[in-house]
Amino acid sequence: MLRWRPGGGTPPRVAPEEDELATKRIADIGAAVIGTGFIGTVHVEALRRIGVQVRGVLGSTPERGQARAEVLGVARAYDSLDALLADESVDVVHVTSPNDLHLSQSRAALAAGKHVVCEKPLAMTADESAELVRLAAASGLVNATNFNIRYYPLNQHASELVAGGGLGDVRLVTGRYFQDWLLLESDWNWRLQPDRGGALRAVGDIGSHWLDLMTFVTGQHVSEVMAELTTFIGTRREPTGPVETFSTDRSGDAVDREISTEDTASILLRFDGGARGAVSISQISPGRKNSLVYEIDGSDGAWAWDSEQPDQAWAGHRERPNEILIRNPVLMGPAGQAASALPAGHVEGFFDTHCAHFRAVYADVVAGAPSSDSRYPTFADGHDEMLVGDAIARSARDGRWVTVDRSGVAAVAAAGAA
Ligand SMILES: NC(=O)c1ccc[n+]([C@@H]2O[C@H](COP(=O)([O-])OP(=O)(O)OC[C@H]3O[C@@H](n4cnc5c(N)ncnc54)[C@H](O)[C@@H]3O)[C@@H](O)[C@H]2O)c1
Repeated sequence: MLRWRPGGGTPPRVAPEEDELATKRIADIGAAVIGTGFIGTVHVEALRRIGVQVRGVLGSTPERGQARAEVLGVARAYDSLDALLADESVDVVHVTSPNDLHLSQSRAALAAGKHVVCEKPLAMTADESAELVRLAAASGLVNATNFNIRYYPLNQHASELVAGGGLGDVRLVTGRYFQDWLLLESDWNWRLQPDRGGALRAVGDIGSHWLDLMTFVTGQHVSEVMAELTTFIGTRREPTGPVETFSTDRSGDAVDREISTEDTASILLRFDGGARGAVSISQISPGRKNSLVYEIDGSDGAWAWDSEQPDQAWAGHRERPNEILIRNPVLMGPAGQAASALPAGHVEGFFDTHCAHFRAVYADVVAGAPSSDSRYPTFADGHDEMLVGDAIARSARDGRWVTVDRSGVAAVAAAGAA
């Protein structure tokens, strides 16, 4: 049951490093990374590992960019976005700045003819993300949203398993995404400011990963939601100096700030393929550092995975003993194999998902345009999670089931293609 079955979804494109011709060309491709914080650093290092030339970085100020470029060993720190976009050796721009900058920076990069990889959430609102989908489609350039969790090899394998009927009919999809780094009232980050992070916080920041992953693995979109959002910590202490994501140093001065965004979310889900589900999301769960958990119950079997034990998955059976699959390229289908860099028993993790994701994206960059059969998350997928987020916010506000409004999606795609 654990083995991939032929016919289970689109075979992945061959990873460039497995193709000598592509390997030669990927080394000629240049990238620049906007944002040099937690995830910007991951982008820089993952790009290097897959053989892309990182030409430079852009920080919040030229001085900060320069300091980070030196630490990362990157040749250039741009003085401005204009200087970055004027660099003809840059083919791809990675946007890893706070959420309020994603639209303007991605839009400028597309206008300059650069392919774009943007962090999630794709934008601050669904109107913004729709604009990016339109612009990307009109440009013909490669576009990706960094829902990297798809690229744990066992999640790639799970998507093929489900598509091949390995679980039978998918019925129940449940799970959680819990963290504890915003547990204390003294914990602070730009994500707590709606004008920087967006009107949804826990849902937009981490819930979007879980929801995207479940759509990717099950092949079903969330169609209706019933949500409760709760802010347990109504006032927090904002340090008067800058704070890095996940930093715990709270020694400086601070001022009180009212908080309007949710610490937790409890969401009932209906999927368009008939599945039902429920997810809990929290940034205040003591001890849970970065725990994305899901279980998919089908008519012929179940599948469960936990991001804090990412190299193993559980397969549940009614008529025979349950199984644990340790990630193993020889026991997985083509997509699971393509996302795996190492043999079984050599644990792969968060960094590696970015390498696998970027390998898939850069196969299209090497080709010069998005392919029609790509499995990586595009701007359209980032926009879809914004629409689900809108329905969640409306449901929580109105206290009722809300249908995800995709009525404008076809028009957005058509406007981009026109
Ligand atoms: N895919 C993932 O797993 C993942 C993980 C973490 C963060 N993210 C996303 O990545 C983005 C950044 O999050 P983070 O945790 O790295 O935040 P961070 O605060 O650690 O880093 C943000 C960086 O952006 C820089 N910045 C601010 N203004 C800028 C500007 N005008 N121009 C250029 N750089 C600017 C800051 O100096 C900082 O270095 C967010 O959108 C977040 O949702 C995604």
